[in-house]
Amino acid sequence: MQIQVINGPNLNMLGIREPDIYGTLTLNEINELIALKGEELNITLDFYQSNHEGNIIDKVHDCYGKKDGIVINPGAFTHYSIAIRDAISAVGIPTVEVHLSDINSREDFRKKSVIKGVCIKQICGKGVYSYIEALEFIVNMFKK
Ligand code: DQA
Repeated sequence: MQIQVINGPNLNMLGIREPDIYGTLTLNEINELIALKGEELNITLDFYQSNHEGNIIDKVHDCYGKKDGIVINPGAFTHYSIAIRDAISAVGIPTVEVHLSDINSREDFRKKSVIKGVCIKQICGKGVYSYIEALEFIVNMFKK
C-alpha cells in the first residue's frame, strides 16, 4: 500500500513555530515517527511539504493512479482553499485531513474546514498521533 503524506504552509517551521500550540518536534522528526509507523504497518510512505497552493494541488494530482491514500495537513489552506478541496475530489483517493492542534477549540476562523467534506475522516488535536491515527484508519479501511 502506498500513502502520500502532504504538509501545507508553515509546517516546515515546526519546532520554531508557536511551540506552545504545535509542540517542539520539527517536521523531519514528525516524519521520522510517521515513517516508523509506516514500517510497522508495512506500507510505503512518501512525504511532501509546500508553502504554495498550486504545488499542493499538483502533488494531489500526481497521486492519481499511484497512491492508495493521502494524509494531508493543509495548514491554513484548510480554512479557504476550495482549489485543494477540488483536487482531492478530482482524484477520488481516500484522504484523511489531519491537524496537530485542535482546530475546533481555537479561533473561530479555524473551526471551518472546506477540505473536511471531501475526506473520509478529519483527525485533529493529537500532535503527531493525528498522522499516525490517519495511517491506521486508511490501512483498516482497506482491510474491511
Ligand atoms: C494546523 C492548523 C491550521 O489552522 C494552521 O493554519 C496550521 C496548522 C494544525 O496542524 O494544527 O498551519 O493545520
